[in-house]
Amino acid sequence: MQKVLVLNGPNLARLGSREPDIYGSTNYEGLVAAVTGLGAELGLSVDVRQTDSESELIGWLHEAVDGGLDVVLNPAAFTHYSYALRDAAVQVTKSGKKLIEVHLSNPHTREEFRHTSVISGVATGVIAGFGLTSYLLALSAIAS
Ligand code: DQA
Repeated sequence: MQKVLVLNGPNLARLGSREPDIYGSTNYEGLVAAVTGLGAELGLSVDVRQTDSESELIGWLHEAVDGGLDVVLNPAAFTHYSYALRDAAVQVTKSGKKLIEVHLSNPHTREEFRHTSVISGVATGVIAGFGLTSYLLALSAIAS
């Protein structure tokens, strides 16, 4: 079974209680259940993780490179400024695997600082603004 890493950056474990008007009312456990559920239907073994640590997230991208795994990545606030995360992300796409950047909200409709993504330029594709469905669309893209 093809394995996929679904990686979530800082504050995403707070889903459900964190700004539900922007991020929705589904909590992190609900996100994990929906993503792993669709993964199983698509024949993917999905490993969903969350960290508030830039270092840990970079380590997981290295793991994807070394293991030859596709990645769905919500870099959260790291999206907007982490060149270190970008340098790790480009290793995934240059290794021939997919890295799909996802966002629950559409950052382009929000504050100015969210309009920049340092990750998009090295991602295979970007899906934003569909809430939890952004992740499900990304998994479908990986399976197709
Ligand atoms: C986010 C958008 C980011 O700007 C923000 O920092 C997040 C979540 C999203 O999923 O909409 O933490 O990545």
